[in-house]
Parts: sequence; structure tokens; C-alpha cells
Amino acid sequence: MTMQTTVEGGLLSRIDNAVAAIRQKTSIKPKAGVILGTGLGQLVNKIKGGVKIAYGEIPHFPRTTVESHAGRLHIGDLSGRPVAMMEGRFHYYEGYSLEEVTFPVRVMKALGAGILIISNAAGGLSVKEYRKGDLVLIKDHINFMGVNPLIGPNDNRLGIRFPDMIEPYSERLRKVAHKAADKLKMKLHEGVYIGVTGPCLETRAEYRFMRSSGADLVGMSTVPEVIVGVHAQLEILGISVVTDLCDPDNLKPVDIEEIIRTANEAGPRLNDLVEETIRLL
Ligand code: HPA
Repeated sequence: MTMQTTVEGGLLSRIDNAVAAIRQKTSIKPKAGVILGTGLGQLVNKIKGGVKIAYGEIPHFPRTTVESHAGRLHIGDLSGRPVAMMEGRFHYYEGYSLEEVTFPVRVMKALGAGILIISNAAGGLSVKEYRKGDLVLIKDHINFMGVNPLIGPNDNRLGIRFPDMIEPYSERLRKVAHKAADKLKMKLHEGVYIGVTGPCLETRAEYRFMRSSGADLVGMSTVPEVIVGVHAQLEILGISVVTDLCDPDNLKPVDIEEIIRTANEAGPRLNDLVEETIRLL
């Protein structure tokens, strides 16, 4: 056996192990996988029935760091449709590898999900158009993390070597989300998300550079999960909550409490939007 097949067999068998452990608890086949951003976790309370599985009980799932909350995978019904939802997500800046950060995406796909819905808290670079608390559909991204979760030997059973990135964020799902927003009489922007590793915030010069490069939002997550989602041929919907405005000419010291408070305040609107979008699928 070559080195390559050993490594590759590794990821696939880790996914199989995780799925087998989950299958011992439930036979529900989720239609969508949902990953919730910082301060946006309340949606798990809307799930009906099903099971909650501690990440620690799922083989090869990353263990949450001591400071963060114990993570759980919820599998049950949202708006009458089966979903798998992560309570607690992993960020690269916490020290997880990108394989760990994206492993749950692989597992949700292997459980049967065809759709991936991701939310995040992001800084708003389009300071003229955005207000704090606004919701923005991600229409495209710029990977500015300097790393890629697909680096390494490719397992063709999981996806192709060179996936194209023509439409990482599904146009169909964006249309459905706009329809849901209209129904809820909710304002919903569309924008380009630039992903950085963090954990430090950006300099004024970086904000200027990012804005001039066509980005509307900046954040420290989402891009790795979306790249793996594309590799796994998932249809993806990404939604950002603008938690702070990144105006290089009027830059204020970052206040993490304030960012989390803004995310919490926007949470119920985001929840309504995701619930309605899933209902309309
Ligand atoms: N930069 C990076 N990530 C963020 C920001 C920001 O300004 N706000 C929320 N997440």
C-alpha cells in the first residue's frame, strides 16, 4: 500500500467511524447540516425531537478547548425538516488543524446532508451600506488565510483533486433565502466575505486593502468549511451578521463583548431567516 492510500484511507475511515457512532443513536438522515457562528447558537433550541450527541462521544471529532462550551451535535427537525446542527464550532486560531475544523462537514455529508448552512459574526467593510446587526448573504469569498483544507493527498472518494470555485455559495439557495427575507419583511444584503486566520483583528492598512480588493465582510471562520463543502459537493448557504464596522478612517478598539452582544441581538432574526429558508426548500 502506498503512503498516499494509507493517509487517505485514514480520513475516510475516520468519517465512517464517526458516522457509525452517530448511527447508534439515531437513524435520522439530515437534509441539511448547519454550523452556527459565534454568539449565534440559539437556533439549536428550535430543534424538535431527535438526539443531542456530545462531540466527545463522536470518534475523531475535535475536542473543544477548555474555555469554550462543551460542543454537541443536534440531529432533529427544524421547520419540519431533518437537520444536523453543530452547537459549538472550531476555529483555526484556536489551534485546530484545518482537517479538524472541517471534519464535521465531512461527517454531515456522510450522514446524508446535501445542503450546508453556515452563519458567522463578521466585521463590516462596506461601512456606507452596512449597519451593526445587519444580515448579509455571502455571495462569494476570498481565502486570505494562507492555508487550504484540501492540501495533502486527495481521496477521490471524497471529492476531486481540483474542485472549481465558480459558485461556492449556491445561487438557488440564495434565491430561497431572499424569498424568506421578503416574507419576513427583513433586510438582507449580499456581500463578499474575506476569511483571515485571526486571532488579532486587522490593521487600518489591512481594512483598506481588503475593501479595495472587493470584500464587504471580514471574519475568522467559514472559508475552510465552505472549501470542504464544495469538495464534498454540498449546496452551500452562508449568512454573516455584521457585528462591528471596520472603517479605517474611524477605527475604534475592538470590544469582543460588544461583538458578542451584537451577534446575540441579531440571533433571533437570523434564526427566523434560517427557519423560513429551510421551510421554503
Ligand atoms: N475582523 C475579523 N473578524 C471579525 C471581525 C473583524 O473586524 N469582526 C467580527 N469578526
